Amino acid sequence: MKSLSARSAVEPFHAMDVLAEATRRREAGYPVISMAVGQPSHPAPAAALDAAHKALHHGRLGYTDALGTLSLRTAIARHYRIRYGIDVDPKRVAVTTGSSAGFNLAFLALFDPGDCVAIARPGYPAYRNILAALGLTVIEVEANADTGFTLTPESLQAAAARAGQAINGVLLASPANPTGTVTGKTQLKALADYCHDRGIAFISDEIYHGLTFAGEETTALGVTDEAVIINSFSKYYCMTGWRIGWMVLPEDQVRGFERIAQSLYISPPELSQIAAEAALGASEELDVYKASYATNRDLLLKRLPEIGFSIASPMDGAFYAYADVSRFTNDSMDFARRMLSEISVAATPGLDFDPVEGHGTMRFSYAGAEGDMIEAMDRIARWLS
Ligand SMILES: Cc1ncc(COP(=O)(O)O)c(C=O)c1O
Repeated sequence: MKSLSARSAVEPFHAMDVLAEATRRREAGYPVISMAVGQPSHPAPAAALDAAHKALHHGRLGYTDALGTLSLRTAIARHYRIRYGIDVDPKRVAVTTGSSAGFNLAFLALFDPGDCVAIARPGYPAYRNILAALGLTVIEVEANADTGFTLTPESLQAAAARAGQAINGVLLASPANPTGTVTGKTQLKALADYCHDRGIAFISDEIYHGLTFAGEETTALGVTDEAVIINSFSKYYCMTGWRIGWMVLPEDQVRGFERIAQSLYISPPELSQIAAEAALGASEELDVYKASYATNRDLLLKRLPEIGFSIASPMDGAFYAYADVSRFTNDSMDFARRMLSEISVAATPGLDFDPVEGHGTMRFSYAGAEGDMIEAMDRIARWLS
């Protein structure tokens, strides 16, 4: 039998492994609380569910244009005018099967094998894993208190010099996972300028937009027309399982992305596109959910340090607390495993986000119900005392 490709030796996405184990335990009857995976416990907005019901009733769901229905692309373009005061031509919008498909498309459309892409460490593990699986070189640039927990032109420059390699792409999330860092407009512009001057592709992951609790939420579209913007209905819109997201592309790159999307995915799911369009108008309902995350955030900001976990980064946006647990362990994988098996609380080991220093950190998602957060903190406090 032919053996697997080298690319399939990619690191597992540990948060997903923890989720799978938590699901198994829950099915076996344990009272599991999951703070492992970043997904809201709230349902998709009522208008989205309603639109989907109607579409199902109508019966026929088919392929759409590879870059999505004109109706949804136009609605997303309108969203930029309403939310950010920025005009976007709907032709620049590409609808994707979740932002995860957006990364695949962006990496394939922008880079050739061997190209080098810089990401922040700690950062979202799938970036590293997808890039590696596609045969691209990853430069992980440390984001710490000195760099404001984000990427800076100086940190990129230093990392490229250390690696002895030119950077072809920079990928930044703001708000960021797991650090919660919100990168402000001045810093974003400095990064965009740095990339422009050197012919580097700039990819801005804005999936946590709408979930900023401190600082200014800036889309890279406000500082450059050259960035690839990636976004999703998974987080603010509470639609993880619908697998629907979008990109805004530089005008002259749209066709290249479209060619790859046609063959890779044919089209994003039509049902999800219909629901997503309705969700764009549901901010009143979604802002109530956002307020529930803010309550959970306050709770964790108080309880985690009391337990002995210091908060390792700002928590300004997204719905994660990245905690330093080094007082209790130097092996976050084992800590996560024990926490799940001994007190049925699932959280993600820091090693997922930071292969160098994540052995002493854990990420707690606070997108769940407030009662669950309280119970989880109580269980951890009792467990460690
Ligand atoms: C920073 C970031 N980007 C992208 C994703 C993927 O989201 P989706 O594929 O559901 O749009 C996640 C999921 O947790 C994330 O944290």
